[in-house]
Amino acid sequence: MEFNIANLFQNSQDKKDDSQDKKDDSQDKKDLAPVFYGIPAHVPNSMSKYISIAGEPVVFTGSEEEVEKYKNRPYLNKYKVMPLAEVLKQYPENDIWVTYKIANTTAKKLAKHYDPKKIHFFEANLEYKLSCGFIGHFIDYRVDNFSPCCIGKHPSVKTSGTVQERIAHWENYTVKLLEDIKNGVPTACDSCKYLKEGFYPRDIKLDYFCFATNHPGDVCNLRCSYCFVQNRFQKFKENPEGLTTYETLKQLSEIPEYNNSNTTIELSNGELCANKNCNEIFDILFSTKWKVRFVTNMTIYNEKFAEFLKTGRTVNVLTSLDSGTPETFLKIKKVDCFNKVVENLKKYPLENANLRLKYIFLEGVNDNEADVYGFYNVVKEVGCKSISISSDRSKPFTEKIRNLVKGLIEKAKEDGVKIFKSAYLSKQDEKYIDDIVAQPRKQKTVAPVPENKVINVDGKKITLDSDLLADNAKYVIIMGDNSTITINGNIIINPKQ
Ligand SMILES: C[S@@+](CC[C@H](N)C(=O)[O-])C[C@H]1O[C@@H](n2cnc3c(N)ncnc32)[C@H](O)[C@@H]1O
Ligand code: SF4
Repeated sequence: MEFNIANLFQNSQDKKDDSQDKKDDSQDKKDLAPVFYGIPAHVPNSMSKYISIAGEPVVFTGSEEEVEKYKNRPYLNKYKVMPLAEVLKQYPENDIWVTYKIANTTAKKLAKHYDPKKIHFFEANLEYKLSCGFIGHFIDYRVDNFSPCCIGKHPSVKTSGTVQERIAHWENYTVKLLEDIKNGVPTACDSCKYLKEGFYPRDIKLDYFCFATNHPGDVCNLRCSYCFVQNRFQKFKENPEGLTTYETLKQLSEIPEYNNSNTTIELSNGELCANKNCNEIFDILFSTKWKVRFVTNMTIYNEKFAEFLKTGRTVNVLTSLDSGTPETFLKIKKVDCFNKVVENLKKYPLENANLRLKYIFLEGVNDNEADVYGFYNVVKEVGCKSISISSDRSKPFTEKIRNLVKGLIEKAKEDGVKIFKSAYLSKQDEKYIDDIVAQPRKQKTVAPVPENKVINVDGKKITLDSDLLADNAKYVIIMGDNSTITINGNIIINPKQ
């Protein structure tokens, strides 16, 4: 064997480097060990599972209260607990694993500081990926096809068979679509404006069925000038082949897997209350546990609809009023029933139904103050808490419409009425609305809270430890990004007071 002192030296040097590498490696491992976020009660029982998934944590952090509790003692007699701000300084590169079962708010909070790709969830059904709000849980259910999204770019997928078989088809299709998006394989979703990176449910589970005027038997009693489903009414009249919305709902209601309160049904099937099976459809809704979203013109009063609204299972009711005067309503919808709609909006028990009134701006038709402010008066009169702003199939707003939109938003903001953007807006108008909504409201200066815990606002009083008495008083607390409100008692929100 050839003896070479240089080799010997090299060997021992290699060994040294090797042990140094091992040390560095274990140091690296420690340095990059996961941070665990959240100390809820279930964590001790789940620790071995968590460690097998993510590895031994380097530190725990969590809400202020959780961190405060373990300020002076290690958690589980072993783990350091430190505030998030400190974790950010010491472990900016480490992955962070959230232990909460519901974690949407935490995810958003953490994503402000961490690379979202490094945020993971042990319990919550969430993951960071490229997707949209529809894929994986939504179906636009149609007579002989489906779409996995509502208004994105996805073309329809031909299908047939029973409701159960079509759902299975949807599932296979959706799994493959998400796989392809993940792997960068071209899909029909490419370049869709709704496809964005974000936190989405990890599991694929159909929980939203949309019925949007795609079945024979869907009819309407109005003829809105802009209506994009008008031609379907005629088409289905001429060719009534296939299941009606009612027959489809009947089959769906008989599948136990979907008879639960996690399932939402959207009924935008022509005008529901004009459908010859309207009462039978409500009987099905009563027989299930579904939540329901109604898109209706509100021209017809139906007792069963009124009864259903009292169940608390209504996600919301969306009504396109598009006018503030009977004349313009008639011009757009070809039937003279503006006053009837307002009457029904007052008569239906909508208190727990999240009514949203919509205004589709139509150039030269309803782009005037009498209609826009007339519309807003109805919003106030019927106690509606949210409005939706739309254009006719994303047609860009004119300058005149933009000014009216601005006036409408400012009034809504002033009154605390929520503003929603319809899906039918151009990108520029979406941004225009976002910018106005984001503008800070004209603020009233409020004196600091004095000793007796009373804030004086323009002569009216908010007593923080007794009832708020001033009639029609509106108080808004505007807070900085890092401000906190601490509530030591109960908050009672009673919209009727
Ligand atoms: C076709 S309707 C069916 C439901 C019900 N008849 C109604 O009018 O509310 C469903 C929704 O599509 C909206 N819509 C119809 N045509 C539109 C268009 N050209 N642009 C934007 N939204 C439109 C309506 O305002 C309504 O909110
Ligand atoms: S009420 Fe609805 S379905 Fe009927 S014509 Fe108008 S938009 Fe179309």
